[in-house]
Amino acid sequence: MGSAGWGDEQLREMRIACSYLFPAELLKDKDFFGNISIETVKKAYRKKAKAYHPDMHPQVTKGAASDHFMRIQDAYELITSCLLEKMEPAAERSARKKVAIAVGGAKGGVGKSVFAANLGVLLASRGFKTVVIDLDLGGANIHLYLGKRKLLKHTINDFLGKRVDTLEEIMVESDYGPLLIGGNSSELGAANIEFAKKLRLIKSIRNIDADYVVLDLGGDTSYNIIDFFLQADYGIVVTTRDSASYISAYHFIKAALYRKLNRIFGPESNLRDQKDVDLERFIRETTMSPDGAKTRTIGQLIGNIRQHRPLDLSVVTRAISDFRPYLIVNKVPKDADIHSVVMKVQDVTKKWLSKEVTFLGNIAVHEEIEKSVIDLVPVIAKHPYGRFAVEIEDIVKKLLHWE
Ligand SMILES: Nc1ncnc2c1ncn2[C@@H]1O[C@H](COP(=O)(O)OP(=O)(O)O)[C@@H](O)[C@H]1O
Ligand SMILES: [Mg+2]
Repeated sequence: MGSAGWGDEQLREMRIACSYLFPAELLKDKDFFGNISIETVKKAYRKKAKAYHPDMHPQVTKGAASDHFMRIQDAYELITSCLLEKMEPAAERSARKKVAIAVGGAKGGVGKSVFAANLGVLLASRGFKTVVIDLDLGGANIHLYLGKRKLLKHTINDFLGKRVDTLEEIMVESDYGPLLIGGNSSELGAANIEFAKKLRLIKSIRNIDADYVVLDLGGDTSYNIIDFFLQADYGIVVTTRDSASYISAYHFIKAALYRKLNRIFGPESNLRDQKDVDLERFIRETTMSPDGAKTRTIGQLIGNIRQHRPLDLSVVTRAISDFRPYLIVNKVPKDADIHSVVMKVQDVTKKWLSKEVTFLGNIAVHEEIEKSVIDLVPVIAKHPYGRFAVEIEDIVKKLLHWE
């Protein structure tokens, strides 16, 4: 590794890029690359861009001036993207060593909880310490799918109500491998948690000591649910073949992407280096105000930012490209076509959100699943080599790049 945590190759590229924006003496300072921030890069860029903007040099041939200007612009983009890259993994490394997988998708009844419970059973059966968390605060039921018939003595409500300090205190063993943090929706208003409580919960989930944490989400597009989805390393959206279901799957993905921009740049952002309420307002106003009617796609939003706020282009495109939704189609009847459902979700997401949705696989209609929600034994625990187990394993292999 080179100085300040940069790889040698990256440091070399940074040096070259920085030479377009900063005086040479500054680059000689050995602490320069350790202390450089996006704010300083922005300032330096503004100064240079002003000086070298082609309009400022009518006497020089247009080509030469705009060449230099382009290099300044490229340098700015390279430096900011290196800085963002360096910031993120570092923050993640210290905050979590586990992998969090969220299972969402608007609409109840598509099979999110059945999938999440069995995913937990499968991961635990491979020897991974796995915790399944019921984050469907208004419709908590995953404890049933993991064999807990009786109401749990302690639930996430005790944590939210500060009757316990840590999630570990409400974690229980399920009979089928994963640990469980269950919910209890019988308390009125359980689904409406305040922002501060949500942050405390998210922080504690990040600190859980486990290999995998599976988050089972509720079936709507409220901010609470989407914020949990965005916190995970992997966000899986479950749909069935019904049009109502895949349309809400798309709306869920869209709501999540816009919420992500709002959480990074908006007033609630806790990313000091990226928070930018002006930019967040610009995004909101161009996409949501009546005048914003023309900006109906993420592609158009990017075009607008390129034109009006070129300095913010790299942070916005990076935030968008970091968002990677995954899709599962559940309850597929024998011999039914799922290709068209997957294509519809992928096409519409590409067209409106400029995003690829990765299809992970489908799950057939299984009679055993219907039975399992009555006898409360997860299908994978009962039939570890059955067809359903194979489907879930294929999905996990694709998601986590297992051999
Ligand atoms: N692949 C499947 N085959 C048959 N029934 C299923 C399948 N997946 C889910 N179900 C049934 O659908 C119902 C709703 O599942 P659930 O996981 O609770 O949905 P959600 O969490 O999305 O609201 C359950 O009663 C379950 O039996
Ligand atoms: Mg559910």
